[in-house]
Parts: sequence; C-alpha cells; structure tokens
Amino acid sequence: MKYQVTITEILSRKISVEAPTAEIAEEQIRGLYRDEEIVLDYSDLSFFDVYTDVSEKNSANSDFTILQGDCMERLYEVEDNSIDTIFADPPYFLSNGGISVHSGKQVCVNKGDWDKGGTPEYIYNFNHKWLSLCRSKLKDNGTIWISGTHHNIHVVMRCLQELGYKVLNTITWQKTDPPPNLSCKYFNFSTELVIWARKHEKKTHKFNYETMKQLNGGSQMTDVWRVPAVGLWEKQQGKHPTQKPLRLLYRIILASTNEGDTILDPFSGSGTTGIAANLLGRKYIGIEQETDFVQLSLRRKEAIEDENTRKKLCDKMRENSQETTVLANHMREKDRQLAMQTGITYMRAGDSKGSLLVKQGFERLGYICLHTNGNNPELYKLAKKGFQIWTAEELRMKGFSVENAPYYAVMRFDATKAIPFDQSINLHKRNYTTVAQIYPLSNFIEIK
Ligand SMILES: C[S@@+](CC[C@H](N)C(=O)[O-])C[C@H]1O[C@@H](n2cnc3c(N)ncnc32)[C@H](O)[C@@H]1O
Repeated sequence: MKYQVTITEILSRKISVEAPTAEIAEEQIRGLYRDEEIVLDYSDLSFFDVYTDVSEKNSANSDFTILQGDCMERLYEVEDNSIDTIFADPPYFLSNGGISVHSGKQVCVNKGDWDKGGTPEYIYNFNHKWLSLCRSKLKDNGTIWISGTHHNIHVVMRCLQELGYKVLNTITWQKTDPPPNLSCKYFNFSTELVIWARKHEKKTHKFNYETMKQLNGGSQMTDVWRVPAVGLWEKQQGKHPTQKPLRLLYRIILASTNEGDTILDPFSGSGTTGIAANLLGRKYIGIEQETDFVQLSLRRKEAIEDENTRKKLCDKMRENSQETTVLANHMREKDRQLAMQTGITYMRAGDSKGSLLVKQGFERLGYICLHTNGNNPELYKLAKKGFQIWTAEELRMKGFSVENAPYYAVMRFDATKAIPFDQSINLHKRNYTTVAQIYPLSNFIEIK
C-alpha cells in the first residue's frame, strides 16, 4: 500500500511511503523526521491522504481519494465550491442495544461507537456542523443527498432549512427484501429516506431527468425507489455494518452528476459512493475515521481495477427491476430486410420449437433488436406495447416466408429510425440465437 502523508509543519511537505499498514507508514514518516532532527508534534501530521498505487496510476479519469479522520476537521481541506454532489450517510444514532434479524439469526442492532446517540442537543450540533461545512464545498449548482430514518432525518431536515439549502425531494427507498420485525409491535421497517437538496434557494441545480425516465421504463421517475438491500456480491472485500447498496448510489449519481464530476462523501464507510462514482466515470473524495473501513474501501477500489470484476459489478449495479428491456429477435436475412421496410417483426408462438418465451421483463419491453444468427443487429423502438397474434397466412400475405408454426406473435416498431447502440453486444448467448431473448436496455445503450 502506498500512503501519502501531508505534513502541516512550516515546509508543508507531502511524503509518500510504502508500508503494509497506516501505523507503520506513520512510524516511517516519524523516522524521517528523527533523522533530520526535527521534532514533529502529533498535530503536525495530517494523516492520511491515502492512495493505493493502483488508483493513482490507473484511474486517469476516476480519481479515488480517501481522507482518514474526523470529517469535521478534514472537510476544511476540501476546496470550497469544488464539489458537484455530496452523498452522506451519517450516523443515524440508533445503536441503542435493540435487536434485529440477520441471515435468519437474532442480532444486536449496534453498529459501532460512532452510531451511539447523545443528547438531542449533541445530535443537532453534530448535524448542523457537518452540513454547514459541506455547503461551502458545493459548487453553486451543487446538490446534497442525505440518507436517514426517523431517528435522524427530522434533525437533518431542520438543519438544511436553517443553513439555506433548498430541499428538492425526499426519496423513499423501499427495500424489496426487508428483514422481519421481531417484536411484532410495529409495522415492519422497510424504508429509508434520502433527502435531496440543493445549495441555493434560487440557483438552479443539475438533474438528469431524461436518464431517470429512461431508467424507469420510459415514464417519469417517482420519489419511491424500490431497491434491494446490499447484496453479498458487493461484500466480497469485507463487510461494513451499514453498507449502502451500489444500486442506490447508481441512481443518485446518474440523477445529479455527469461524467468527470466530483462527488464527496463525508461518512465514507466502506467507500460505496466512491466505487459507484468511479464505475460511472466520476471522481471521488471520501472521509472516514475508522482505519478498517478505509482499508476496506481501498480493497474495493483495487478490485474494480480488474476489468472482469469491474464489468461484473457494473452489470449487477445496473440491474433494475423497472428498466426498459430489449427483445433480440433472430429473423432470416430476407425476412429481416422486409421487417426493416414494414416495421413488422414476428416470433413463433404456441409450442413449436423456438417459440417466443414471455419471461419477466417482457412487460417493460420498449425496443426490438433484429439480427440474423447474431449478425447485422439493428435496434428499433417499439411503436406499441404488447403483441398481436397473427396466423401464418396473414404474415405470408405481407410477404414474409413463414413455415413451421400455425400462428405468430407480431410486434410493430418504428422502422424509420435505427438507433445507434453498442455493437459489441454478444447475441450468441448460449447459442440459442433463434429464440428471442430479453436484455436490459443498458446492455445496448450506455446510460451515463
Ligand atoms: C452509516 S456509515 C456509512 C456507510 C457507507 N455509506 C457505506 O456504504 O459503507 C457512517 C460511517 O461514518 C463514519 N463516521 C462517523 N462519524 C464520523 C466522523 N465524524 N468523521 C468521519 N467519519 C465518521 C463511521 O465510521 C461509519 O463508517
């Protein structure tokens, strides 16, 4: 691991050392000073700007920086008016010894000392301070997202309003797979809230409205987001007790930033915000006080430098139960040409070999991709939802050369406009190119 340490003594040096742990890195730095007979106070060492070698060398457009320490102190080092979006998952202050269920077992809800509550006054001052510091770091059109539950969200809302932010939305994150409530004295807790606010009352903010619409199957995205809780696939490098799902950050980042933007997370934890940011080509600055979590973030960052892992995580992160889908349909060359002239495509229906299988995702079909054995694919928007059943005779009358089945599922598409898409998509999936397959739209068109 490579550690970069900023020294705040009179020379304001920056030193990089190779060391297996942060503590050994610190000892090495102190050794350098002892050699120079300079006495270094603890307060002179601004520990740490921590980078892995990998992130520095290979992430030309996806910087990943974790500052270790208390965000109340380290936020001062972030340049004012430099941040496009902040995502913050602050302590909810609910580590009060209660119980919950995890993997079918009863567990204590305590997350760590950082999550133990204090007096209402302490909680108010805490939130007021970090929200105030964060506001000065945002660009004038910048926005902030803060997650919470009823334990902290009302105080956060009050502070936002006092500090001059303008609240834009309160998103309800509905978990599709909440653990049961053991006490049976309440409704099951299945939601968290995410407030979205902008820096200024009057200055306008960035919102990628069309992208959100696209993610939502073509209709306006609402403020209720159904996203599953964090999955095992995103805990491969270790666990954080309150890790947020990449899928939640995916949506937040796409909604409020563009490629190359900088995202800040003052309570970085396992670095989820940074991982999602880098996977989407955004830069990241995180602040986290616990060494174990800083190291976990760096392991996660290192993992996504591997092309395969990166692709796998991207695909999983983009999975979305509301996303528009594409039906890839093989047609013989002559019929494909005719389909592209008439805007009509067909698939065998009934129980003949290779018939259309109406699977999950069909209800969100928005596009058709025509191909011949995986070759010459063309993407078109469907003109209408659903399909009609035609007889073979009706298709023959339109000039198609159908043979095997008595009736067919017919769809109409807008043949006037072929849509450009990522031609590298492999339609030879499991060799069944003759069976119509459903894919998420994001496999064809990258959502940025
Ligand atoms: C709710 S967790 C964030 C989890 C994160 N969203 C993730 O996906 O891993 C809050 C994190 O903030 C850290 N934290 C708490 N108070 C802090 C402070 N004052 N400065 C910096 N980090 C702090 C905790 O150690 C914890 O890892």
